[in-house]
Amino acid sequence: MRADGVDVVVAKADVSDERQVAGVIEEIRHSMPPLRGVVHAAGILDDGVLMQLDEERFATVMAPKVNGAWNLHRLTLEDDLDFFVLFSSAASVLGSPGQGNYVAANAFLDALAHHRRALGMPALAINWGAWTEVGLATRSDRVEHLTRQGIMPFTPEQGVLLMERMLERDLVQCMGVAMDWGKILGSYTPPVLSRLSEEVLAGEGPAKKDSSVRKDILAAEPEERRGLVERFLVEQIAQVLKCSPTKGDAYEPLNRLGIDSLMAVELKNRVEADLETSLPVTALLQGPSLSQLATQLLEGLDAPAAEAPEEAEDGLEAQVEGLTDEEVDALLRDLVKEEEKAEG
Ligand SMILES: NC(=O)c1ccc[n+]([C@@H]2O[C@H](COP(=O)([O-])OP(=O)(O)OC[C@H]3O[C@@H](n4cnc5c(N)ncnc54)[C@H](OP(=O)(O)O)[C@@H]3O)[C@@H](O)[C@H]2O)c1
Repeated sequence: MRADGVDVVVAKADVSDERQVAGVIEEIRHSMPPLRGVVHAAGILDDGVLMQLDEERFATVMAPKVNGAWNLHRLTLEDDLDFFVLFSSAASVLGSPGQGNYVAANAFLDALAHHRRALGMPALAINWGAWTEVGLATRSDRVEHLTRQGIMPFTPEQGVLLMERMLERDLVQCMGVAMDWGKILGSYTPPVLSRLSEEVLAGEGPAKKDSSVRKDILAAEPEERRGLVERFLVEQIAQVLKCSPTKGDAYEPLNRLGIDSLMAVELKNRVEADLETSLPVTALLQGPSLSQLATQLLEGLDAPAAEAPEEAEDGLEAQVEGLTDEEVDALLRDLVKEEEKAEG
């Protein structure tokens, strides 16, 4: 940029600290031409499922986004700006289990863009997908996690081009994401996309599953089977939670990892489809650890492939459809009670 004759000045400040931001803006007013635009791109991650997040972990992630964007908004109210761009994330549109604090922080940015527009001021919140080469999403485990979900990375050049187009169209909020639609809608449909899915996926169909898991496990030496089942469970739980369990999580009850009753139904369906064995959702709700579940599944695998789900759960998915989370919890609690009664 300097080679092109642009005067580039780098000033450092904690954007969440009002005094420091005021200092930088004061400096700009004294030493530079009028301020004409703001791009807020500060952000940090501190991921964890909700039960692992506390006030401090929320505050850490909120500070650069919520306090930072608010400071820039308040301190430039008098400036005649052409643009005020907020780097938000697709996470606040699509949801992102394991990133509750980050999702909330970005949702604030989205709301701030609309608030500014309502005041007649320039604003654009961009819900970015994943960038390659630079930034938060470049860690290999994150890239893998995102591409597994169907969120494909794009290059900085493509990102900058997208931002130019959004600014030209004078949009308030816009999501810029490269999607593998088959993958994202085949594994989990974020509520906001559910209406789109039929049109987008017309003729494409959800991603095909590998149905040879059961065969592979049964063909393995007996001492290798446990490892295979545990690895399979880690993958399935990661798909359901949209974040990978760590090694230490193998002995934690699944509900402590963030598997709620709706997720338990999804996990049951995945396990039953791939292992062709029956896994009552009530067994999942009794809070087994991943390791205990592996033991239970290994025992079930020796039995012939299950033909149909158990009676009590027949049509469970249909029953769950349309219920609120609380109603699903109540229904599943009743199932657990019934089963306990039947077992005496
Ligand atoms: N990369 C992606 O794929 C992606 C996807 C969706 C959204 N986004 C959003 O895009 C923005 C840029 O992300 P990135 O990927 O480029 O991440 P990055 O390389 O980590 O850049 C984030 C920057 O924010 C700065 N920062 C954090 N807290 C700050 C504070 N209190 N005051 C001032 N600066 C602060 C960091 O400075 P230090 O290095 O000095 O800590 C860092 O330079 C973020 O808001 C992120 O949420 C990125």
